[in-house]
Amino acid sequence: MRWATPVIHFRRTATADTEINGFKVKADQKVVLFYNSGNRDERAFKDPYKFDVTRTPQPVQIGFGAGGPHFCLGANLARREIAVMFDEIRRRTPNLRITGEPAYLQSSFINGIKRVPCRLN
Ligand code: HEM
Repeated sequence: MRWATPVIHFRRTATADTEINGFKVKADQKVVLFYNSGNRDERAFKDPYKFDVTRTPQPVQIGFGAGGPHFCLGANLARREIAVMFDEIRRRTPNLRITGEPAYLQSSFINGIKRVPCRLN
């Protein structure tokens, strides 16, 4: 989830004047949250551009949001779907091999892969 960060951004509207990390935000101003930026924050992740699932403990990633009332309602369903999908791909096609670079979706909202060339060994 950290590495892919499938949802790139959501937008919020400030309900009151506030300050975020030294930036003044006025009531009714729009603020955009870039989850992919937070998931590459070097203050939270050592070597943020390295794919490393062995970090212990794993720092908290924010691909489903960072908690609070708008945290992704479908996070547990999505986690389950992702686990089942990878388990089934491994089970049904254990000899599946990626043979080339992925083609990415052209989108400013979803970081998604449209096609990946593969073959069965
Ligand atoms: C890998 C799959 C998914 C990703 C990466 C994802 C990511 C996100 C993110 C980043 C937010 C904003 C959270 C925030 O800023 O606090 C969000 C909100 C939300 N997600 Fe997901 N989501 C996924 C799957 C799903 C699924 C499967 C459902 C429903 C079945 C769902 C329903 C929602 C809803 C309803 C919200 C809005 C919650 C609110 O504003 O109160 N999501 N999601």
